[in-house]
Amino acid sequence: MSLTDGHGPKKRIPGLSPPTVDTLGPVSDGFGDIGAVSAGLAAAGYLADQAIATSVYLARALDKPVLVEGPAGTGKTELAKSVAAMTGARLIRLQCYEGLDESRALYEWDYRKQLLRIQAGQVGQAGAGGGAGGGQDAADQGWDAVEDDLFSERFLLPRPLLEAIRAPDPVVLLVDEVDRLEVETEALLLEVLSDYQISIPELGTITATRIPLVFLTSNNTRELSEALKRRCLYLPLDYPDIERERAIVVAKVPGITERLADQVARVVRSLRALDLRKPPSVSETLDWARTLVLLSIDQVDVERACTTLPLLLKHRGDLAKATKSLSASGVDR
Ligand SMILES: Nc1ncnc2c1ncn2[C@@H]1O[C@H](COP(=O)(O)OP(=O)(O)O)[C@@H](O)[C@H]1O
Ligand SMILES: [Mg+2]
Repeated sequence: MSLTDGHGPKKRIPGLSPPTVDTLGPVSDGFGDIGAVSAGLAAAGYLADQAIATSVYLARALDKPVLVEGPAGTGKTELAKSVAAMTGARLIRLQCYEGLDESRALYEWDYRKQLLRIQAGQVGQAGAGGGAGGGQDAADQGWDAVEDDLFSERFLLPRPLLEAIRAPDPVVLLVDEVDRLEVETEALLLEVLSDYQISIPELGTITATRIPLVFLTSNNTRELSEALKRRCLYLPLDYPDIERERAIVVAKVPGITERLADQVARVVRSLRALDLRKPPSVSETLDWARTLVLLSIDQVDVERACTTLPLLLKHRGDLAKATKSLSASGVDR
């Protein structure tokens, strides 16, 4: 971390101007090339396709945040967690919600401690001055010193964004479900995302010396501001294809056979093709697969699929549609 005066020239952070693609050299900590990122993520339990691995690689090579957008349960949060696991970095998470403000996202002054400091100062002064008419000047000087001290680092409570900026160790910053913020609150993120710095009026500008990897996720419940998007690499995520979903199931569900994993992936894919209110997500695929293993079902037929469907679908109408479709077309073996 480095501090500069809030009004002075801003300190440049090395490596912030994006290199052009042909100057992108190999990057360390598992970021050698896109293939290495893919392999690193797989070792951390995350199966990435080419687009995901490329975005993660570029996030490090260009020092740019990644905005991951897609339906719930498609692996957005898990991606950030897996990048942290892969690089051995600490994950710092800011969970967004309506009403999140600066004091929860950036920093807050520790009012209670500040109050104690003032009281301690008064006690000290009373002791030293002893009511002997020490004069207004002395009192003013005492107050100036206290005021300087009150707004120093000692009384600063860092929240996730500040914590990530000034972390001396490698961190991955996850700003989760950013679409839950009000548009005006999004602005809180902009300085961090473009300059990796935070301005604190009483203290100055805190600039990152080590640029964190940043992932923002959005379930796309509303359009994000152009200002935010402009600062990020954009990674739209969708449900995985059958092959990748099968591999995810095999990787995440202990004791499942390749054949059952394949069947699970195909049934889920066929359900997503129906016009459902909420198609099953990868989390639900995994829940279903785990349940089938638990029930010692090694092959899915229509009856077993229909009785276990509530693990995949959470709306009555969707259940009815899926039951009808599975009964009519059967389950591939
Ligand atoms: N590519 C993937 N590789 C491994 N697991 C995945 C992948 N995509 C999704 N998952 C699994 O799906 C679940 C839901 O993912 P999550 O990241 O929580 O979804 P969301 O997109 O809602 O943030 C997680 O438990 C994760 O294990
Ligand atoms: Mg999530």
